[in-house]
Amino acid sequence: MAEHCIPRAFVIGDPIAQSKSPLIHNHWLTQAGLQGHYEAHHIVPDKLQCFLEKLLADPHRPGGNVTAPHKESVHHWLKLQSDKAELTAMAARLGAVNTLYRRGEVLIGDNTDGYGFAANLDEHAPNWDADLSETLVIGAGGASRAVIVALDHRRHPGEVIHVVNRTVGRAQALIADLQLVDAQAHSFDELNRLSSTASFAVNTTSLGMSGHQSSTILTDAASQLRVGTVATDIVYTPLMTPFLVAARQAGATTIDGLGMLLHQAVPGFEAWFGVRPTVTADVRKMVLEAMEVG
Ligand code: ATR
Repeated sequence: MAEHCIPRAFVIGDPIAQSKSPLIHNHWLTQAGLQGHYEAHHIVPDKLQCFLEKLLADPHRPGGNVTAPHKESVHHWLKLQSDKAELTAMAARLGAVNTLYRRGEVLIGDNTDGYGFAANLDEHAPNWDADLSETLVIGAGGASRAVIVALDHRRHPGEVIHVVNRTVGRAQALIADLQLVDAQAHSFDELNRLSSTASFAVNTTSLGMSGHQSSTILTDAASQLRVGTVATDIVYTPLMTPFLVAARQAGATTIDGLGMLLHQAVPGFEAWFGVRPTVTADVRKMVLEAMEVG
C-alpha cells in the first residue's frame, strides 16, 4: 500500500507522554498483521482547533483518540461544524468525546469510556450487574459521568445510584444534567453508611492514584463493604489501589481499572482499521510491564 494510503490514527492530549494508547493500538496492528499507524501528538489547548480543522479537511485521516484536557473542547467544537461532523448519542449525553472516526465524509465524535467500564466488568465479573439496587459511585467529575451513564444503562427499574462527592453540589448538578431518575447526591459524611449497604461500588476520584495525595476516606469506606459486593476503581496506577486493597480485605469481589482502558480502545481500532481487536492477557501484560518501567 502506498504510504499516504496507510491509515494513520492518533491520540491527542496535554500532557501525552504517559498515554498507553499507542502501545495498545500498535500491539493490535502487529497482531492482526495490518498496515496502519497510531501516534501520540502533544497538542496544547491553543493548538487544538488548528489540529481539528486539518483533520476535518483530510479524508485520509481515519480519526483517533482524545484525552485530557480536550474531551469537552472536542465535543464543543464538533457541535459547531454543522453537517460535516456529528456526535453519537453517548458523546452528546456525556458532553465529552474520547474517540473520533469517519462515517463517509462525516467526522463522528463518540465516547467509549462507559462501554470500556462495562466491558471490563463483563469480562472479569460476568454477574456484576445482577444487583445494582444500591449502587455507590464515589466522585462526580468527568470520568464519573461515563461510569454513571453505563450503570444507568445496565440497572433495572427502581435500582438506585448514590453519587457521593466531596463537593455535594457537583453530584447534584451531575444528576440533574444527566436527567437521572432514582439517583441521589450525598456528601462524604454519608459514605461509610452507604458503603455498608452497597450492592456495587466504584471509585471514580483520583484519590489513591500514584503521586496524588493519600487519604483514608476511601479505605475507610471500602472496609465497610459487604462480602461479595463487586467493587472497582477506574484508577489503574497502582493496579491495586488502596480502595481495592481495603475492599478485598472486607471480602468484596474486586476488579481493577486497567481493563476499562483496554476495552474503551476496541471500538476506535475497529472503526479506523476495520478489524475488531480482542482484549487478551497478552495486551494487558504488555501495558502492565510498561507501567512498571514508568
Ligand atoms: P476527572 O475528569 O478525572 O473525573 P475531575 O473532573 O477533576 O477529573 O474530577 C475529579 C473527582 O475527584 C471529583 O469527584 C473530585 O471531587 P470534587 O468535585 O469535590 O473536586 C474528586 N477529588 C479530587 N481530589 C480529591 C480530594 N483530595 N478529596 C476528595 N475528592 C477529590
